[in-house]
Amino acid sequence: MRILVVHYSRTGHTARLAEALAAKARQRGHSVEIERIRTVRDWNKWLLPIPLLPLLPLLPFYLASARFRRLWHRLYYQPQQAIRPLAVPDVSGFDRVLLGTPKWLYLAYPVARWLDTVTGLTGRRVASFATFCGPPLEVFELEMLFEPLEARLRARGAVPAGRLAISSDYHPYFFFDEMRYLFRWISLKVFGRPLADFTLDGKVGRAEFERFCGEVLT
Ligand SMILES: Cc1cc2nc3c(=O)[nH]c(=O)nc-3n(C[C@H](O)[C@H](O)[C@H](O)COP(=O)(O)O)c2cc1C
Repeated sequence: MRILVVHYSRTGHTARLAEALAAKARQRGHSVEIERIRTVRDWNKWLLPIPLLPLLPLLPFYLASARFRRLWHRLYYQPQQAIRPLAVPDVSGFDRVLLGTPKWLYLAYPVARWLDTVTGLTGRRVASFATFCGPPLEVFELEMLFEPLEARLRARGAVPAGRLAISSDYHPYFFFDEMRYLFRWISLKVFGRPLADFTLDGKVGRAEFERFCGEVLT
């Protein structure tokens, strides 16, 4: 198969996952190209969360109600960020596209712009992969990221074809790694496992990686 691995990564974790996927695909005899989405200008880390703030007061409703989530995913504002010209502006020549994003509550802003910019998505099978700090919490991490992402893929005519979520055990906020320690605590509470287990080097993360490769690279 001809496979395109396209991703954005601000601090390197999604890029590492993308490289691992590309290496695995090559090992299996596929022809692989990599598109690294680059922004025109990097936003200051303190500006990035500002467009995401409207959800915070509504988070209890979001977590509690599937109906509210469906409504929110239709209505929420997805920020975008200007990206540099693409090496592969038309993906129609690929059998499979693997699209990678860090989770910025939803998909990362440069990836949202890529989805609106690229052509040739109609009928393409697109599998999504992501890194985020936390463990794979069903609603807060997986649904909040993949539902809007896949809705955007469908709106461009693509066929969502798989999901992979890996913890980076890294969070840029706020001053003393508070978010990272919070997610480490949540991981122990909810899954009874250290967050490290869900990273690419951890037992569960590695198994997920292999499952995804088995699904999307055959
Ligand atoms: C604006 C912003 C929002 C984020 N939101 C989440 C989140 O909702 N859940 C989470 O676990 N991590 C969140 N993170 C952490 C990143 O998803 C995580 O550090 C990711 O692995 C970074 O990937 P990268 O190194 O490829 O840029 C957020 C980071 C930023 C900058």
